[in-house]
Amino acid sequence: MKPTNNALTRRKFIATTGAAVAGAMITRPGTSMIIPGKPLAKKRLALVGTGIRGTTFWGRRVLENYSDLIDFVGLCDINPGRVEFAKNYMNATCPTFTNFDEMMAKTKPDMLIVTTVDATHHEFIIKGLEMGVEVLTEKPLTTDEVKCQKILEAERKSGKKLKVGFNYRYGPHTTKIKELLVSNEVGNITSVDFHWYLNVYHGASYFRRWHGIRSRSGTLLVHKATHHFDLLNWWIDSDPVEVFAYGDLEHYGRNHSFRGDKCRNCPHQTKCKFYWDITTDQMLMDLYVKNEHFDGYIRDNCLWREEIDIYDKMAVQIKYANNVQVSYSLTTYSPYEGWRITFNGMNGRLESWLDIPWRKDEKINQAELHAREMEQEATETNTDYEEIIMMNNFENYRMIKLSKERSGHGGGDQRLQDQIFRNPDMPDPFRHAAGSRDGAMSVLIGIAARKSIESGKPVRLEDLTDLVPEKVRPVMK
Ligand SMILES: NC(=O)c1ccc[n+]([C@@H]2O[C@H](COP(=O)([O-])OP(=O)(O)OC[C@H]3O[C@@H](n4cnc5c(N)ncnc54)[C@H](O)[C@@H]3O)[C@@H](O)[C@H]2O)c1
Repeated sequence: MKPTNNALTRRKFIATTGAAVAGAMITRPGTSMIIPGKPLAKKRLALVGTGIRGTTFWGRRVLENYSDLIDFVGLCDINPGRVEFAKNYMNATCPTFTNFDEMMAKTKPDMLIVTTVDATHHEFIIKGLEMGVEVLTEKPLTTDEVKCQKILEAERKSGKKLKVGFNYRYGPHTTKIKELLVSNEVGNITSVDFHWYLNVYHGASYFRRWHGIRSRSGTLLVHKATHHFDLLNWWIDSDPVEVFAYGDLEHYGRNHSFRGDKCRNCPHQTKCKFYWDITTDQMLMDLYVKNEHFDGYIRDNCLWREEIDIYDKMAVQIKYANNVQVSYSLTTYSPYEGWRITFNGMNGRLESWLDIPWRKDEKINQAELHAREMEQEATETNTDYEEIIMMNNFENYRMIKLSKERSGHGGGDQRLQDQIFRNPDMPDPFRHAAGSRDGAMSVLIGIAARKSIESGKPVRLEDLTDLVPEKVRPVMK
């Protein structure tokens, strides 16, 4: 295909499409619909797991933005110092607990928010559902197929609906891709290439803490890739049926000539390129370092620990029930952070990417980029753009540009919360809201990939739980 004059295409595009198109597809932060009527009783929230995600995104920010609709009635963590810090940081007035059962019995919440270490999510999800409470869990739903099956059964018995916080779905960029796929402009999709690059700051951060231990995180194929597999399932709109994967640990962990206890007191500080000074971050000092004497949770652990047993490079092939085949990879020590995706259709091709540095005029500071991506206190919109290319097999391409939102996972975080707390009944044309089946289907790909790496054989998802993969993802009521 001959590319058209780029400058012309670009000008024409800005004149005809522009950011407004994408922005119109989903309610933007701060512009939620408020339906007049009788004031509702405030929802009583309890939260378990007051680490960084629980304290900031599901804690302080929820109180700041939705205090007309919710009250926190209890906070729980196994670390007494961290849960006290969380209460103060959130400006909450509720009691704190180190015993989950006691919190639930004493506070009788309407909704439980689960933000603990991944491998423990199932304990609280199942107990919450058994108590008849609405449960919202952070991703990943869980870390193995046995726990997954137990969660599915608990939900069926409870009659309550479990919500899974898949924030990436809600971003304007991911939503625009969904909209374009729904329009079927590139024809029926036959294959997808999806490659995700974690840079040496963000990628390394997973190896400093519990994420590096497979019994806690299920490996990054579950902890991190659950986001990516969920996006694939949602975009492709079919269920995964079979997975084959390779993975290895070649960079972090035991693969190094020296190692220390933790960055703070490491004798190798000057020669280790990954040295990270946690003492410059007051929030992390207050949340973790000041409370490590309670439970030994070291936030700035050595990346070269022998105990690390997850993969740092991963390649996964996924076959879907509608015959789409996916090539996915996850890299954890890239010089830049970003991703690339291509959908090959019968009539053309949809391509997109995020943060590929040589496509930018500006020089991207990778350390700062990670910090901004994880920022959960503000929503920053800048003048940068996301790009999507739509190509017809026999015509010129069309470039679509969307104004970029960097903070809070591409702007997805706040839209997710708006739908949960402010507008639960708002129209959801692209089915952003995710439940247990979505949570399960995404972690089952990662679990199957893990099993495939270990066995050297393909793994069928129908062999893992009683969920039956369907050609078109069913609508869950
Ligand atoms: N959706 C996203 O983009 C996103 C971003 C960050 C984290 N997360 C998820 O949020 C969860 C928390 O992540 P984090 O970064 O805050 O981790 P973290 O380590 O900062 O916090 C986890 C907390 O859980 C507590 N905990 C562990 N086991 C417990 C138990 N049995 N009972 C009570 N408390 C327990 C720990 O003491 C800690 O305070 C994880 O599941 C993670 O996958 C999601």
